[in-house]
Amino acid sequence: MKKVATTIGVLVVTACVLYGSVAYADMPGADPEELWHYITKVCPYKGWSFWPDHQGMQPGRAPHGPLHRVYVNDRALNSPRPPVQYGAIEVKENYSRAKELKAITVMYKVIGYNPIDGDWFWVKYTPEGEAKPFGKPQNCILCHGTRSVFFVTEQD
Ligand code: HEC
Repeated sequence: MKKVATTIGVLVVTACVLYGSVAYADMPGADPEELWHYITKVCPYKGWSFWPDHQGMQPGRAPHGPLHRVYVNDRALNSPRPPVQYGAIEVKENYSRAKELKAITVMYKVIGYNPIDGDWFWVKYTPEGEAKPFGKPQNCILCHGTRSVFFVTEQD
C-alpha cells in the first residue's frame, strides 16, 4: 500500500514538472473549477514554493485573514519581476487567529483575460473549493489592480 502511495506521489510530481515546461495552452482556463482542479490535483499548490522573503505562515491584514501562507508556482517564482509572467499563480491560504483555514484566495495571470487590470483572474474559494466571487471582482481589483494606487503584491 505504501508503495502505491509513493508511486502516485512521483506521478503527480512528474505531471507537475511537465506542466511547468509545456506550452501555456496546457494551463487551466480562466475558470474556477478548472483552476481548482489544477491547483489541487494536477499540480497541488502545497508542493509549490514561497516567495524568498515571505516563507511559511505570516501575519496579514484585512480583508484577508490575520494569518496566511502564500504559495507561488514556478512561473511566478521564475518571473523577471515586476511584473510576473503569464501562467503565474499565487495561492493564498487565509487563516483565523486560531490557525483555522477560512478561505483560499488565488490570482492567476492569463493572457488577454483583463488587460486593463493586469490580466489577473481572481478567485476566492472556500476551503472545500467553492468559488465566490471569481473572475474580475471589483473589490479584489480595487486593492490589487494595476490601475489601483494600492497595487499590492508582496514581491514588489
Ligand atoms: C482591502 C484590500 C484588499 C482586497 C479587497 C483584496 N485584497 Fe488580496 N491582498 C491585500 C493585501 C494587503 C495583501 C497582502 C497580504 C496580507 O496582508 O494579507 C493581499 C494579498 C493577496 C494575495 C497574495 C499574493 C500577493 O502577491 O500578495 C492574493 C492571492 C490575494 N490577495 C487575492 C485576493 C482576492 C482573490 C481578492 C478578492 C476576493 C482580494 N485579494 C481582495 C489586500 C486586499
